Amino acid sequence: MAVSEAPREQAGPGEPWRPLAGRTVVLGVSGGIAAYKAAELVRLLTGEGARVRCVMTAAAREFIGPLTLQTLSGAPVATELFDLTQESEIGHIKLADDADLVLVAPATADLIARMAAGMADDLLTTVMLATRAPVLLAPAMNVNMWSHPLVEANVERLVGTRRVLMVGPGAGFLACGWVGPGRMAEPVAIVEAARRALTRQDLAGRKVLVTAGPTAEAIDPVRFIGNRSSGKMGFALAAAAAARGAEVTLIAGPVGLTAPLGVTRVDVEDARAMQREVMAREGGADVLVMAAAVADYRAQGQAAHKLTKEELGAELRLELTANPDILAGVGLARAERARTRPLLVGFAAETPSAGSAGDARDAELVARARGKLTRKRCDLVVANDVSTQGVGFGGDESRLLVVGKDAVEVLAPGTKAALAHGVWDQIVKVLP
Ligand code: C5P
Repeated sequence: MAVSEAPREQAGPGEPWRPLAGRTVVLGVSGGIAAYKAAELVRLLTGEGARVRCVMTAAAREFIGPLTLQTLSGAPVATELFDLTQESEIGHIKLADDADLVLVAPATADLIARMAAGMADDLLTTVMLATRAPVLLAPAMNVNMWSHPLVEANVERLVGTRRVLMVGPGAGFLACGWVGPGRMAEPVAIVEAARRALTRQDLAGRKVLVTAGPTAEAIDPVRFIGNRSSGKMGFALAAAAAARGAEVTLIAGPVGLTAPLGVTRVDVEDARAMQREVMAREGGADVLVMAAAVADYRAQGQAAHKLTKEELGAELRLELTANPDILAGVGLARAERARTRPLLVGFAAETPSAGSAGDARDAELVARARGKLTRKRCDLVVANDVSTQGVGFGGDESRLLVVGKDAVEVLAPGTKAALAHGVWDQIVKVLP
């Protein structure tokens, strides 16, 4: 079958960490009680920098007024296919062509059925059929409707076209009084799915293991030896990998951060626990990114009770034992078994010598990173100058150099979310 070219240049891939910015999202609203959440969706989408154009079915207008969505989106709401004024001012083909994404939330059983049948009997279904953009459906309906074989068959048919994506539904209390699957995905989850629909899925099918945060090495049940790692870089790396389609497990030391959507989180306290969790999973991973700042030492012996001031005395001497080097351990295991998986990415947080600046400073960072690359047998080391105020540990911004055996890539300074994608761009280049 001949595929005709789009009459308009589709927006190219935007910044991967802000995939909705500058994009046009046609938000279709069909007639279910979850339609009231469309208002929140418009706010979230515009907050991401998207241009939102709302299309409402007749049934949707029984649940929420077009004025609400028009006010929030700052653009006229399209409702009619055969209204002369609307058609000349908005135009159903223009809507379909302008869309970078058609998001339908809520998508009712009726709308799903009409789409699955290839029908175009109102404005929304016409736009859904006429667009070349991905169509993302957020179904919402009664639990018995959702599990009806006809609805299941329709959903399967739509997903099978590969042009239609689904988010949710989740399980929970339904407005109809039933409890079970059928509840529309929460607006934040829908926005995340929208972001993913517009992000290049270059890590699809890959299993990724990321470590993040500090480790806390207990002295007694209350006190510990720790470090200043905030975990933000590791969490950003996990989020970016998930957004690019990877199956991500995040092994996190003690940090107060929320796991990115769709990421499996494993919490650990100390280096040995982190090592156990990494070793249990590294064999099945395609990539291991060790962004955690693993404590170099742990207290020898650990008091079972909180040490009293008297026990601590005026001077406390702690005997310290070196922690296992997790990354070097995986590097060695991989070399011994002549494996190529997982690809190993280490981090090197450095404070270059005082007085060194510019290129000399970078050269020093690279040299230290290369030392780690060889010692720990990894494929890439991400060097990070943590001596600059507000950059590196704890901050939201950072400056990174991705160091390979032969090449060095200096990433443009930016937020950790942006840099995380920059790091993955480099990893994707060397992934077998
Ligand atoms: O040697 P250094 O601690 O600077 O190396 C940093 C890299 O090694 C990071 O990727 C860190 O996660 C990893 N590392 C480790 N186990 C340790 C110490 C560091 O895996 N005990």
